[in-house]
Amino acid sequence: MKAPCQPSDAAMHDPRYLLAQAIAVHAGAMALEMFRRRAQLVIESKGPQDMVSAADRNVEQYVKERVRAMFPGDGFFGEEGGADVGDAEYIWVVDPIDGTACFVNGMYAWCISIAVLYRGQVVVGVVYDPNANELFHARLGGGAFCGPEPMRVHPGPTLKDGVLGVGTSFRVGVDDFIPFLDAVLRDGGMFIRNGSGALMIAYVAAGRLIGYFEPHMNAWDALAGYLLVSEAGGRVSDFLAGNGLLHGNVVVVGNQAVWGQIATHAGLALETT
Ligand code: IPD
Ligand code: CA
Ligand code: CA
Repeated sequence: MKAPCQPSDAAMHDPRYLLAQAIAVHAGAMALEMFRRRAQLVIESKGPQDMVSAADRNVEQYVKERVRAMFPGDGFFGEEGGADVGDAEYIWVVDPIDGTACFVNGMYAWCISIAVLYRGQVVVGVVYDPNANELFHARLGGGAFCGPEPMRVHPGPTLKDGVLGVGTSFRVGVDDFIPFLDAVLRDGGMFIRNGSGALMIAYVAAGRLIGYFEPHMNAWDALAGYLLVSEAGGRVSDFLAGNGLLHGNVVVVGNQAVWGQIATHAGLALETT
C-alpha cells in the first residue's frame, strides 16, 4: 500500500496544479463561445432531467488532449467519456460543463470542474466560471483561492446565519431530499439551488454559502470543490468512501460549526476526511 501524500510534499503536484488552471480557463472560453451560439447546439437526453450537447463532449475532449499531451501516463475520468485510468498514480476527474441544464437554457450558473487525484487522494481542485471570470483553485496544503485572493469558509455559527446550497437529481428519490429541506426550514435556515453543484461547492469555499448538501453527486461534480472547501478551512464528508470515485456519494460540506447540523438534517452519521 503506497503512503498517501502529506501536505508537506504536496508541492510536487504544482505542475498539474498550474496545468489544471490553464486548461480550465481555456476550456471555459471554448464553452462560453458555444454558450453564446447555443441555439445551434443539438441537445440530447441522457436520462430524466439529464442533458448533453456537443459542447460537453468537445470541451471534455479538449481537456483530455491537453492532459495527455503534457502527462501521457496520467489517468482520465470524465463525465462524458468515462474512465480511462489503468493503474495510473495520477487521475484527472473532469466535468466539462457542470450546470448543463443552465447552459442549454441560457442561464449563467455553469462551470468547468477539474480535480486531480494522486494515489487516491485529491491534490488539486479547480472550478472555473467563465461568465463571472472567476477561477477557484486549491492544491493540497497550499490554501484555496479565488483568482489571487485567499478564500475562507463562512464564519456563521448556525444555519440561521447564512444561506445553504442544495441540489438533487433523479439519481435519488424525492424522499431522499424533501425531508432535508423541511428540517432546514424548521431550523430557521434558508436554501438556494442554482443548477451547478460544483459552482455552489466552490461558493462554500468562498464563504458565500454556509454549506452544501446533495443526496448524491458524482466524483466529477464534487471532488474539485471538496479540496477547495477543506483548504478554505471547512469540513467535508468522506466522498471517496465506498468507492465514491466510481459510484458517487452523498455530499455534505460546510464550515466547521454547521457541518454537523447539515449532517443531522440529512439524517446521516458521517465520518469526515
Ligand atoms: C448536475 C449539477 C446539479 C446537481 C446534479 C449534477 P450536470 O451536473 O451539478 O446542480 O444537482 O447532481 O448532476 O449534469 O449539470 O453536469
Ligand atoms: Ca455535473
Ligand atoms: Ca456535466
